[in-house]
Amino acid sequence: MRDEILNLKNSAIAQIFDFDDLKSLEAFRIDYLGRKGKINSFIKNLKDLKNEDKKSIGILINDTKKAIEEAIKEKSKELLNKSSNISEWFDPTLPGEKFQLGSLHPQTIVLSEILNIFTYLGYQTADGPEVENDYYNFEVLNFPKDHPARDAQQTMFFDVKNNKYKKGEFIPRTHTSAMQGRIMEKTKPPFRVVVPGRCFRYEQVDASHGVEFWQVEGFSVDKNIKFSDLLGTIEFVLISLFGSETKIRFATTFFPFVEPGLDVYIQCTICKGKGCTFCKKSGFSEIMPAGMIHPNVLSKCKIDPSIWRGFAFAIGLSRVVTLKYGIDDLRILTTPDLRILRQF
Ligand code: PHE
Repeated sequence: MRDEILNLKNSAIAQIFDFDDLKSLEAFRIDYLGRKGKINSFIKNLKDLKNEDKKSIGILINDTKKAIEEAIKEKSKELLNKSSNISEWFDPTLPGEKFQLGSLHPQTIVLSEILNIFTYLGYQTADGPEVENDYYNFEVLNFPKDHPARDAQQTMFFDVKNNKYKKGEFIPRTHTSAMQGRIMEKTKPPFRVVVPGRCFRYEQVDASHGVEFWQVEGFSVDKNIKFSDLLGTIEFVLISLFGSETKIRFATTFFPFVEPGLDVYIQCTICKGKGCTFCKKSGFSEIMPAGMIHPNVLSKCKIDPSIWRGFAFAIGLSRVVTLKYGIDDLRILTTPDLRILRQF
């Protein structure tokens, strides 16, 4: 029986080698490995053997079975690859697999909308570090050391106990304005740039404030830039985003790196101006601080303020998203809940 099995193994493997279609290979498989196949008939005959032979012949049958299975598998892979006739391996009656389709986060949708508007206006887009040094976050932007204006930025600090850095030498950036210095000192005017990015502040978290938020900084430097260019740009951007009926309100304010400084509000889209918790009952929502770039900032970046002028602004991206979609709580945007994302 041992020889018979060895012969069967050798001849089977030699035959498998010669097959050139899947159908006859399958018939061959059934003939050898099927329930009534050749291998099983050896197994049935095992019981007639002497006890001392049973074990070794059993192992031989098993090895033979495995070798034939392996050879058939290899051959059918080879034939499948070669087969140009897809009906041999493709069964169109099998139920298809349903793929889960993802969707873009509303913040990603609005960011690309904003960047499209600025591309249309001739702005370039830049990216910058989320961990920033004191110079770019404050110093170059005309925040003297120990000036109370720094307090308004609610800076978060890294723990420096066990490293070589001084407290505040590097910080999670408090605003994307930190990119103004980095870009202005390296770029020859005229230029127009937008910088989207994440910022961090030590804030009391509520429906309209978070410790982590996104801004889209923008600045433009040219020879004849006027305050009215800034107002026109803001109006164009807000109308493109919220529609021509949008009510915009401007108020003066202070930032050390602009003069004059502006706070820009739009009518709250959630309560339509009636007053709600989101707009703190004012009917208007703050959306993008702005101003004319302070001459000190230009000089620090080696741009001559007697020749060049500029304006800057920062759009509160998360704020735009909530106002656009009527979401009355910013925190929803950072909640990993598929029920929210599936709506976009
Ligand atoms: N960087 C300021 C802030 O986040 C906003 C600002 C940007 C104001 C540009 C004026 C001009 O508070």
